[in-house]
Amino acid sequence: MREKGKSVGFDFDKVIVRTGSDSIKWGKYAGRDVPRWPKAISFGAGDFFQGVIPLWVADMDFAAPPAVLDALQRRIEHGVFGYCAPWPSLNDAVLAHLSSEYGWRIEADWLVWLPGLVTGINVACRAVGGPDSEVFTATPIYPPFLSSPRFSQRRVVSAPLVRRDGAWAWDFDALEAALSPATRLFLLCHPHNPVGRLWREDELQRIAEIAERHDLIVCSDEIHCGLVLDPQLRHRPFAAISPEAAQRSITLMAPSKTFNIPGLGSAFAVIPDAALRRVFRAAMQGIVPDVTVLGLAATEAAFRHAGAWHVALLEYLRANRDRVEERIAALPGLAMTHVEATYLAWIDATELCRMRSLEHPQHFFEQAGVGLSDGADFGWGPRGQRNDGSSFVRLNFGCPRALLDSALDRMQAAVTT
Ligand SMILES: Cc1ncc(COP(=O)(O)O)c(C=O)c1O
Repeated sequence: MREKGKSVGFDFDKVIVRTGSDSIKWGKYAGRDVPRWPKAISFGAGDFFQGVIPLWVADMDFAAPPAVLDALQRRIEHGVFGYCAPWPSLNDAVLAHLSSEYGWRIEADWLVWLPGLVTGINVACRAVGGPDSEVFTATPIYPPFLSSPRFSQRRVVSAPLVRRDGAWAWDFDALEAALSPATRLFLLCHPHNPVGRLWREDELQRIAEIAERHDLIVCSDEIHCGLVLDPQLRHRPFAAISPEAAQRSITLMAPSKTFNIPGLGSAFAVIPDAALRRVFRAAMQGIVPDVTVLGLAATEAAFRHAGAWHVALLEYLRANRDRVEERIAALPGLAMTHVEATYLAWIDATELCRMRSLEHPQHFFEQAGVGLSDGADFGWGPRGQRNDGSSFVRLNFGCPRALLDSALDRMQAAVTT
């Protein structure tokens, strides 16, 4: 093992070329130079990349931790890739990780391995309630929260998060007003993609109390829980707040975001209640494949041996986050709230749209050489479900600083020329 928790230098500044590597994020703009900007736009001396800089899909442009690469190498050298089942030391690694990182003690029996979180969201929708029952979620939200219920003939009901004192927060009155006796499942995103909030104990308690009163199962997607950027904050799983919350919970987690291995497809659900676990497993039957041996090997290595890499990553992302917050605050027409967790910035472009009579800020920045996510896909904005006239874009800052700086320079040039 090259890492073993001691302080080793990790080079997050290194720009790894991902064009031609079958990346979804980079492939979208392959072979496309920055379209000719209608006004003379200078990309600055340090802007070495001629194409559209892709800051959309939520993976990072960093290599996986050395300990993960070593574990994968060893498996590849073995050469046989037959069917495999999760092994005891892997489950032990998950238990130890959840206990040390979040103070959450679970039993190995509660684990259900999955090839992805989105699979878990869809399985939860199939497992809870019946056709025509309702699934609640709060917008803006990672798009599969809105599509998965529909794939299972469930109806989505939602309430918007609100900006209060400069931070995104719950509107619990709107939340309760959205619920009906047909609502059976609450899809929670914690930390929240795209607003970057880490929900606090009191907020989770309130959600648990509402779930109790309306007899809801809470499926808590905690895929970003290893990406808490503010050192004074600690992630608390929804299921860890009380035994009652645990009994009505399905927690979805993965090493994929934190250790940048989403393409390896390894995730798990933690379901303390045996009956709910049975229903969940039944809904998987025949359609959900096993996690691959490479995905499982990477998971064990990440949880056991990539602690120092993780600490260094958080430090790097924190500096990127600070950079984004500072630069966006200085740009006319753009605003954002503080990102507590995730590597995603949810940027309000409403004023920019008004100033420039724009309908589509994502297109605007794409024309200027920066590929962002469109806020409308998150159930927000004039073309999303929430029609309050606001327009957002989401920026992924999980990339080397040189690339981020070039993207921010381009955005600045676009909004100031
Ligand atoms: C909140 C959230 N859940 C799930 C996923 C995707 O998970 P998976 O690739 O394991 O299906 C993402 C990816 O961006 C995400 O942000």
